[in-house]
Order: sequence, then C-alpha cells, then structure tokens
Amino acid sequence: MDKIIIEGGRALKGKVKISGAKNAALPILAACILTPGLHVLENVPRLNDIKTMKRIMAKFGINFAKKQGLLEVNSNNVLGFEAPYDLVKTMRASILLLGPLLARYGRARISLPGGCAIGARPINFHLKALTAMGADISLNHGYITAQAGKLRGANISFDIPTVTGTENIMMAAVMAQGQTILRNSAKEPEVVDLANMLRGMGADIEGDGTDTITINGVKELRSARHKIISDRIEAGTFMIAAAMTKGDIKIDACCPENLRALMDKLEHAGATISFFDDCISVKGPDIIESVDIKTIPYPGFPSDLQAQFMSMMCIAKGWSMVRETIFENRFIHVSELRRMGANIEINGNQALIRGQEQLFSAPVMATDLRASACLILAGLVANGERTEVHRIYHLDRGYEDLEKKFKALGASIWREKVIS
Ligand code: EPZ
Repeated sequence: MDKIIIEGGRALKGKVKISGAKNAALPILAACILTPGLHVLENVPRLNDIKTMKRIMAKFGINFAKKQGLLEVNSNNVLGFEAPYDLVKTMRASILLLGPLLARYGRARISLPGGCAIGARPINFHLKALTAMGADISLNHGYITAQAGKLRGANISFDIPTVTGTENIMMAAVMAQGQTILRNSAKEPEVVDLANMLRGMGADIEGDGTDTITINGVKELRSARHKIISDRIEAGTFMIAAAMTKGDIKIDACCPENLRALMDKLEHAGATISFFDDCISVKGPDIIESVDIKTIPYPGFPSDLQAQFMSMMCIAKGWSMVRETIFENRFIHVSELRRMGANIEINGNQALIRGQEQLFSAPVMATDLRASACLILAGLVANGERTEVHRIYHLDRGYEDLEKKFKALGASIWREKVIS
C-alpha cells in the first residue's frame, strides 16, 4: 500500500489538464456490450476503477486494445454474463453491466454490489425498473440473477434521481420493444455523455439532461467512436485547491458549464473565477469567507465535492454549515480532519465547521475516494513538517496521477511505498 506525503504552505501556480470523467467512462464502457463491433473510445482515464471494469468485461469475452491514446473495445464475442463478487466488491459501478447484458443476451448474473463507506448504496430502483421492462430477477447467495426474453418499453418513475439507475435503464431500453419513459431521471453530465454515445450507436433517445428521458427501442445498434467528457469532479477538486492555497491556476480541458454550482460557492468564499471555452482560471483570496453548502442532485452542489469543500471551510473565517442529502454516511473524513486541528461538529446529515487560523500536519487515513482528495487538500495548507495520507488505494480508483498534477502546480507532494 502507498501513502502520499505533503509539505503544506505553498500557493498553487500554473496550469493543469483534466482527465476524462470516471463516471462517464464506466457506463460508456458497459454500453459497448450492447452490440457486436469494434468501438473506439477517446479520453478514457487511467484509473483503477476503469481497470476493474475492463477485467470484468474481459471475463465476458470482450477484448481491449490501446492504440495512440485511444481504447478499442471489441465486443464481437461476448460469451459470458457473470460478474464475480471478488471484482464487483471493489467497484460498485459493476451494476452498470446489468442493463446491457439483459438487452443483448437476456441473461446476467452480477454480484450484489453491497454497500460502501459512504452508505448502503441500494439498487432497488434499478431492479424495480428492469422488472417493469419484463426481466425476471432473483436475489440469492449474494448474486442478482436476471433473465429476460425481449425487454419491453415501460413507463418508469424513480422515487429519487439515481445516476447509475438512469444509466442502467437507458441501456436496457435502447433495443427494447416499444417506448420507455424515464421520469425523475438523473440530469448529470455523465448521463448526457452516455446518451451521446448511445445515439452514436444508433439509439433513439431524447430528454437526457432533463428529468424526463424518452427512449424508443430500435432493432439493432452499431459500433461507435466517442470521446469521454472531462471529469468535473477532478476539475472541481483543483478549483478548491487553488482557492484554499491562495493559488492562481488555469484548469484546461474542463467544462465550465458543468461546474456552475461550485463556481458560485467559490466566488462567495472570495475566489476570483473566470472561464472561457474549456478552461477555468481560479485565484484564491487572502481571506476565505465561510459559505454554507447543501449537496443535491445535478445541477446542484455535487456530493462528490462535499468533502473537498469542507477542507476549505476548515480554514475559512467564521462558521459554515455543510448538509449532505445524497448519502447517509458521507462525513467519514471529519474525524481525520479533526486530527489536523479542524473544529467540526456533526448533527445527523449536517456538519457545523468553525474555521481555524490553520490546520496542522498529521498522519491521516483515507476512507473513500473523495475523502482521500479532501485530506490531500488539507495537507496542502497544513503547517508543520508533513502530512501523510495513508490507504491511498482509494484515491487511485478515481484520480489519474493526482499527486503529479499537484506537484506540477508547485506543491511539495510525493508518493511513498508503505512496507507493511
Ligand atoms: C453515482 O453513484 C456516482 N457513481 C457517485 O460517484 C455519485 O456520488 C452519485 O452518483 C451521486 O451523484 C457513478 O456514477 C459510478 P445514485 P450512484 O444512485 O449512481 C439512493 C464517486 O465518488 N438509491 O445517484 O450509485 C442512493 O442510496 C462516486 O465518483 C436508492 O435508494 O448514486 C443515494 O442516496 C461516489 N436506490 C441516492 O439514491 C437505488 O436503487 C442517489 O444515488 C439507487 C440509488
């Protein structure tokens, strides 16, 4: 296991290029199962979650080849349809294989993803919708076994917007018999990117990016070439880092339109932000103002940036409130921030943060993907020798070369092997 060491106190300066979006690449990889062919994907990020998804898909007989920065996905010979527990347990997004396997083969056996550090992460909305489309689903021995003749279109309304639920049903519906209408669907940019890939494959989809998506099933699809959108959560992580280190950075290959909620909050905190086309410039203030946030589905403030923003509020002037409404246990990073001198009180899904003059370096432990990033940001501003962030395998699931990118912006940060 590795750890990341940070010597805090440096302002970030310079330029950083954002990688492709993990949460777009995962459903788009799964969509390649839908039809035989040779798909070509561009801007696929080099992440452990992507490696895991490819390992599971390879078990189905799908082959991958990297050529000049592109990823070729050969789905001509899909032989299997089982996603085993030992792989699914490391990446819950494997549930995204359910819809495409049912649509193409009428069969799937996927390990129940189970919960994770941030919550129970149920998949009842996925299963209820697939049942409405004619799938026969049983749960036993920790696996979902699903069978379906030809899936049929249905009217589906999600109790609450679910990102992977929306994506799973979109993929199940593109070759179903008749029309599927998805109401209260997720509006995230990653859902729209998947819809763009599916349209490139010949699907008939409208309304993605709104709360009602209409899909008319088509007889067959074709292979496609698609460029994955930029990772808005990585971009947001760098924006917050610049704001909290009195930095001045330019973020390239990002999509400002997808980051409006964060930009608004950072400006209220005193940051100066400008943007043009696919780049955003962020200049951090001398004094960080306290700002309250509440995480809600897109286009609201993203749950995936809550921990990082909380790091910044730990050194803001005054009190701020963070409300987490998406996941029931997404404050695990608080105990680690407290070890660095943060003053945070938790009451249910609300955290009250009293800004401190400074944070102090300490050995801390990452507990989930975004908590890892939050602790690195705290390390960037912590005074003292060095902050050590342990268990950074969590980080490597969803950030490509994060410490190298921070180092290129002037941070004193490096990775060390932990000999256990
Ligand atoms: C996606 O997770 C993202 N993952 C998450 O990013 C992100 O935090 C989340 O959406 C919310 O934006 C991927 O896209 C791979 P949900 P997902 O279904 O789809 C409840 C990261 O750090 N729910 O939108 O699993 C659920 O418990 C990860 O990159 C049900 O009750 O989240 C939650 O409270 C973390 N039943 C809410 O809905 C269901 O069947 C929203 O979850 C499905 C969801």
